Amino acid sequence: MITRRTFAIGAGAATAATLFDARLGIGELAHARSSLPIPALIDAASQGNVVKLRVSAGRHEFYKGKPTLTYGYSAPVLGPVLRLQRGARVQMIVENALDRPTTVHWHGLLVPGECDGGPQQLIDPGAIWRPTLAIDQRPATLWYHPHPHHDTARQTYMGLAGLIIVDDGSAPRLGLPHDYGVDDLPIIIQDRSFGADGSLEYDAGELGIVYGARGDTIIVNGAIAPVARVPAGWVRLRLLNGANAQNFELRFRDQREFHVIASDGGYLSQPVAVSQLRISPAERFEVLVDFSDKKPVVLETGPDKVMGIFGAIALSGTDDYAPVMRFEPVASRGAVRHLPRQLPEPEAVNPAAAVQRRQFVLDNGICGSRMSMSGHADMPALIGINGRVHDPARIDVETRLGTTEIWEIVSVGMPHPFHVHGALFRVLSLNDAPPPAHLAGWKDVVLVEDKAELLVNFTRPATREHPFMYHCHILEHEDAGMMGQYSCS
Ligand code: C2O
Ligand code: CU
Ligand code: CU
Repeated sequence: MITRRTFAIGAGAATAATLFDARLGIGELAHARSSLPIPALIDAASQGNVVKLRVSAGRHEFYKGKPTLTYGYSAPVLGPVLRLQRGARVQMIVENALDRPTTVHWHGLLVPGECDGGPQQLIDPGAIWRPTLAIDQRPATLWYHPHPHHDTARQTYMGLAGLIIVDDGSAPRLGLPHDYGVDDLPIIIQDRSFGADGSLEYDAGELGIVYGARGDTIIVNGAIAPVARVPAGWVRLRLLNGANAQNFELRFRDQREFHVIASDGGYLSQPVAVSQLRISPAERFEVLVDFSDKKPVVLETGPDKVMGIFGAIALSGTDDYAPVMRFEPVASRGAVRHLPRQLPEPEAVNPAAAVQRRQFVLDNGICGSRMSMSGHADMPALIGINGRVHDPARIDVETRLGTTEIWEIVSVGMPHPFHVHGALFRVLSLNDAPPPAHLAGWKDVVLVEDKAELLVNFTRPATREHPFMYHCHILEHEDAGMMGQYSCS
């Protein structure tokens, strides 16, 4: 049986064998492929802006005939896509039917600290949480997931994640595909390791904590190597990297160009053509792909290059690309025929107006010197930010509502995907260079390989009792304490 522990430490042969099976499942063989599961859509406005979510354990067949114990939101695994209208006030009713506390964090949603769902807002087993969310931000693809300190990684791994679409009704006018489940598809990509009986066993082990837990099997919307039938025209994919730690290097097998139209915080000023796209944990990109040639094509991912040897073993131990899913275009009448040239321009920003400059050093404790100082070869000295481990009783930073600050993020040990709650930022520089065009819009998470300068825009309040978090979105790092908190008033 391949548990995460044996995988993380042993790597090698067993992993490659499992991967081989998973690969056979996709494009090469015509049988035994599952269709891309499309999560239920909850259009909040159509139900009086009241949305119920029930967090519970369930059973889901990743492998036929081998039901796996999972967690989900009103579903065995993952959760419904919540479509929320800009300007609405949405009453959420979240029931925790798990046997342990959880929280539900609205990742990327701009709401005050008291309804953000951070680690302070635990929902006990059997309890119900009722935050009212005032939706006021540009259209974007966001998501929701658990955030209980020390248990975020495991709960997410068990299946707790769902998408949020903030909508303002502008998609038809912009000429963008917007028919949910038809030409506007949620694509939640994750990696998992399964036991021989199909079980998901979360045991990060020491290496998994230091480097983040990685799996050898890629799942999309909870299915292994699924197939999506899409209209033979332009299709919009709302990509979420829902992995605990893995970066995906996405491309189409025929290396066709596709276009990034939005990042975490909403639209870019115009579509950005790419033929490969790195997506880091918690990041979202909306992309448009042209399937009008009617040719089936596999979406695949390359080795996690920024992870060096650890990236290679996570997928196959080789430099190969592994299939993620397959698209099969079918002739259809309503297909979108054109790529829009212009999108709503993100607001201009002025770095000179920043009122503060702060530095955050993200460290997973794998520098040689620290390692030997700890006295153990296998346990890091410290996983934290600026030399400190997360302390729920400590407010690390106080910010002023309505101001901007420049946050300089430095990664030590390995690249860390840095995320801020309750605020959006613009990337001013990445490793001392201007960001590539697809990273130049509003974001809430960015992979920092070396260092980054972010212009953070504080537009929502957070008290000291209900502060906002900032952290590495490698969930094992976050749980180990690579997290801080800030107030905003
Ligand atoms: Cu995706 Cu602190 O969150
Ligand atoms: Cu968040
Ligand atoms: Cu990290």
